[in-house]
Amino acid sequence: MAKKKEPAAKPFYSVLVLAFVCSALVAGAAVGLRPRQEENRQLDQKKNILRAAGLYDTNKPVNTLFSVIETRIVDLDTGEFIPQNELPPDSYNQLKAAFSSTLGRPLDQEADIAGIRRIEKYSLVYLVKENNTTTQIILPVRGKGLWSTMYAYVSLDADLTTIRGISFYEHGETPGLGGEIENSKWQAGWQGKKIYSPEQTLALQVVKGKAPTSGEEAQYQVDGLSGATMTADGVNDLMHFWFGDHGFKSFLEKLKTKGGNNV
Ligand SMILES: Cc1cc2nc3c(=O)[nH]c(=O)nc-3n(C[C@H](O)[C@H](O)[C@H](O)COP(=O)(O)O)c2cc1C
Repeated sequence: MAKKKEPAAKPFYSVLVLAFVCSALVAGAAVGLRPRQEENRQLDQKKNILRAAGLYDTNKPVNTLFSVIETRIVDLDTGEFIPQNELPPDSYNQLKAAFSSTLGRPLDQEADIAGIRRIEKYSLVYLVKENNTTTQIILPVRGKGLWSTMYAYVSLDADLTTIRGISFYEHGETPGLGGEIENSKWQAGWQGKKIYSPEQTLALQVVKGKAPTSGEEAQYQVDGLSGATMTADGVNDLMHFWFGDHGFKSFLEKLKTKGGNNV
């Protein structure tokens, strides 16, 4: 008996159904995993903030360590804190804000020494609290290196000028060259350096080669990166931007008048 012929379109429909089922599974997994991804992103961010403050400990849960840190929002123009009920820090995305027409603005070329093109009106800041006093203030900074935008947290002592620590956590510089900004040994060289002189001028400088270890300059100068001067210059520029007039300067000046550890 002659075999019944399969319709020519049958394999096509089978593939179509299979493709549909697979894409539904992938889309479902992507949506289902989103809260987990967001949770991990936040944990990672907390780790980087703790690292800058020298408080990260691999043996302790990140959320426990982070419980001494209070997250606040400041207005970069006025230097004032924004009340938490007006803009809750948990729901504020600073990088998105820079690109919004209401919460961000373009920077003109002369002002934009960090190469970020736009700046947000408000910035997140992190206060380390010990027995109701603020012992460190951690500030997010970013700016162009040779190939990429580099992101870091800088922790300041309660004197609001001495660096307690810095953690570069995201960049696209070349591993072994500009990528050395991630090197903990290089980052350790920032500890104890001062950003402002007693006259409040911006004195911090990433130098080419080795920074002096004694004398007046030693307190403001940080080692450069051998073979990666362009990245190091980018780091210098981003620090000057964020600790200058368009960045945290007015916030830090306001805090100084209140006494750094009373906020
Ligand atoms: C493939 C390649 C990747 C590089 N990556 C970097 C980098 O990430 N950062 C950097 O400053 N220089 C990088 N450079 C070197 C720069 O072109 C430049 O020579 C260097 O910044 C000068 O630093 P120096 O004066 O310390 O030698 C790279 C060069 C090459 C060929």
